[in-house]
Parts: sequence; structure tokens; C-alpha cells
Amino acid sequence: MQVDVLLGLQWGDEGKGKIVDVLTPRYDVITRFQGGPNAGHTLEFNNHKHILHNIPSGIFRKDKLNIITNGVVLDPVVFMREIDSLEAMGIDLTKNLWISKKAHLILPTHRILDAASEAAKGESKIGSTLKGIGPTYMDKTGRNGLRVGDIDLDFTARYEALKSKHQQLLKLYDFEYNLEEEEKFFAGIEVIRKFNRVDTEYEVNRLLEENKSILAEGAQGTLLDIDFGSYPFVTSSNTVCAGACTGMGIAPSSVGEVYGIFKAYCTRVGGGPFPSELLDDEGERLRDIGKEFGSTTGRPRRCGWLDLVALKYSLMLNGVTQLIMTKTDVLDTFETIKVATAYSIDGELTDQLPYDLEADVKPVYTEMPGWKTDLTGIRSRDQFPSELNGYIRFLEKELHVPVKFVSIGPDREQIIEM
Ligand code: GDP
Ligand code: IMO
Ligand code: MG
Repeated sequence: MQVDVLLGLQWGDEGKGKIVDVLTPRYDVITRFQGGPNAGHTLEFNNHKHILHNIPSGIFRKDKLNIITNGVVLDPVVFMREIDSLEAMGIDLTKNLWISKKAHLILPTHRILDAASEAAKGESKIGSTLKGIGPTYMDKTGRNGLRVGDIDLDFTARYEALKSKHQQLLKLYDFEYNLEEEEKFFAGIEVIRKFNRVDTEYEVNRLLEENKSILAEGAQGTLLDIDFGSYPFVTSSNTVCAGACTGMGIAPSSVGEVYGIFKAYCTRVGGGPFPSELLDDEGERLRDIGKEFGSTTGRPRRCGWLDLVALKYSLMLNGVTQLIMTKTDVLDTFETIKVATAYSIDGELTDQLPYDLEADVKPVYTEMPGWKTDLTGIRSRDQFPSELNGYIRFLEKELHVPVKFVSIGPDREQIIEM
């Protein structure tokens, strides 16, 4: 068997959590392979809404194995909170959730360093979620990090050594902090001890040999990738499909389907370029109808029209085989829908993202009639209004990849398979 990979094609929050929950019944195993608690993946079912940060979105379906693999950075404090709220719902996790020994741990001082670094940047800050992601991946690549497997070694000594390195670093900043979270950190470590901590690369490859089907759940989105996103306004991991190989220890030839998720429009939270951003009433309308406020930080998301220049770049980087369009219902009341098909930079047309983020990029739009129909109650594609079919056909022609699912509301049931 192969691993199917599901990932965001924009700047995150495309609806990955919902779609993983919808697809989980088709798989035996769900993994999270990169990122950390900067992710906020929302699932809605039975009038219940749940947001996951570290734990794979397959956790609500019975008898599915969920694995946090080596590419993830794990915060024991956030993890403990998530476990508490899932256990309160009666979900037994200790059997169905495994953690890689090689996943790196986010320390309280990583979070403080994140905050200190952002504060020092002033106006040019990244807009980080302040979950300690950057500093933790820096320690990983700098070969200083603490890993989940270390909790079975001389953990306290290793923790103290890294903490004191961080305290030295913090002297470079004019930043006040306290270490109140330390107690919770160690309580979180005790919670992690209750789980099966394994070399998940061996387990994942063994499961593949046993013909188990695996779905890998991406976090963030392609345009936040550390290499290919709008650097430095990015996250610190590889969010592209290749990240699934290094993030879980599978060969590229083990990747099967690549599901690419995009919103029917665009959003971005935090700083950085966003060519099709709407700073007017229409942007406000998308934010209101789409309830575009961050799942992790509650910040208002910036909103704009769908951007095919950016989307084509994401398709190229990921080798997407199936598209999933979400939040389609958010456009239900729009008279006209716009899609950026090229950029104009200094009067020159281009279909490529520019290297220079300061460039004055003006999107060139194609306009289409809106469907002016409430999609949220539709349960079959025959009921799609003709304008929506036209929108989908237009996208498929431009992108050369079929749209396989259309999401028409936040609930698990609000999905049409094409
Ligand atoms: P993720 O990070 O990619 O999992 O996405 P988030 O959960 O951060 O943000 C997506 C938001 O849109 C959540 O509040 C979802 O409940 C919601 N959502 C997902 N799909 C749809 C949809 O098709 N229509 C509407 N209206 N909301 C959706
Ligand atoms: P999900 O998985 C949207 C953004 C932050 C910031 C930048 C760097 O829910 O789609 P970081 O905390 O990683 O240092 O922040 O990346 N960002 C996200 N935006 N969805 C996410 O995750 C994000 N994770 C990080 O807003 O601009
Ligand atoms: Mg999110």
C-alpha cells in the first residue's frame, strides 16, 4: 500500500481537519507529519465543534490508529490539554494514539524565545502564532533539541542544559518573562509517558507492508513552506508533499494520492504578501460569512479572491492528484466571483510568483457570475446550480487536476463527492 497525503494549497486553514475527518473511514491509520500546535484543525459533527492542535484529525473515528510522527514538534502542555478534553468526551486514546520518539519537544523557553524574537522585530514581525515553532525547529536543525524519546533517558539534566542555553539567548533581548509554565510542562511529560512511544518510521513502513491504508494530514499550507513560501513570512517546516517523506520516514515511491485542499477564495493570517487580498467591504464580507478568525489565536484572517497563480505553484510543488474545494458556501450570496489568473508587475504580465516580496503585484482577474443559491443543504451534485458547475469546470480547465470533493459547510455531512 501507499500513503495518501492531504495538504493545504494556500496559507493554511483550508479545512484540512474537516476533510481528514470525512476521509478517515476510508483509512486504517492517520498521521500528522510536520508542524505543531501552530495548527488549529476544526471538526464539526452532531452539533459539536472541536479544534485539534497536535493530534491527528482521525481521532474521533472509532478503531483508527493515529500517529504523531518524527516531523512534528510537540508541546506537552498543549498536548495534555487536548488529551484532557478528548478524554472528557469519553475517547480512549492510549491505545489509538502513538507518538514518535524522534518528535521534538517544545519547551516553555522555546515559546518565550518566539515571543521575544517577534517583539524585537517590531513592524516586520512574522505574525507567528507564538507557539514556539521557530525556536524548536531551530534547535532541531542546530542539533540542540530535546526529543520525546529523551524522556526515558537523563531527561531532567538535558532539559536544564537546554533551558540554560535559552536563558543565555534571552539576555540578548529586552524581554520580560517568567517560567510559570515549567510545572505544566513536566505534568505534560507525565501524560506523554502514558502513550506508546515508538520509532514510528518502522511502524509506518510495517503497516504499509501489512497493506494498511494510511492518510497523512498536513498542517499549515504550501505558501507557508519554509523553502517555497513567502520567506520570511512562513512557518519553519516543509509543508509540501515532500515533507511527508522526511516527516514520517517513507520513500517518495510510497506516496499515493495527493489531496490538495483549497478554499473557494483565499485567506491568510499573520504578515506577508497576499496579492489578491481585499481590503474593502468585500473582504469584510468574506470574513463575516466565512467566520474567518484563527482557530489557534482568534486573530481575524485576511481575506481575498482565489489566486490561480499561487494555486498553480502549489500544484507544481506537491504533485496533487485530486483537488478538494472547501468553504464554497461562503460565496453563496456573491453576485460576481473573481479569480486571479495572472499578475501584472511593473506593467508586465506573469504567471509566476515573484521572488521580490516588495514588488508591486497587481492581480489580473477573471469574473464569473455567482450562483446566488444556498448550498448548505445540498446533498447531491445534481442539485448544484449551473454557475457553480461553471466555476468548477473553469478551475479544472486551468489547473488540469479534477475537483473530487466540494465542501459546502463546516459539518462532516456537508460534503459532496464528485
Ligand atoms: P484547517 O486548519 O485547514 O483544518 O482549517 P481550520 O479549522 O483552521 O479553518 C477552517 C474553518 O472553516 C473551520 O472553522 C471549519 O469548521 C470551517 N469549514 C471547513 N469547511 C467548511 C465549509 O465547506 N464551509 C464553511 N462555511 N466552513 C467550513
Ligand atoms: P493550520 O494547520 C494558518 C502562520 C502564522 C504566521 C506564520 C508563522 O491550522 O492551517 P508560526 O507559528 O508557525 O511561527 O507562524 O504561519 N501559521 C498559520 N496560518 N494556519 C496555520 O495552521 C498556521 N500555522 C502557522 O499565522 O503567519
Ligand atoms: Mg487552522
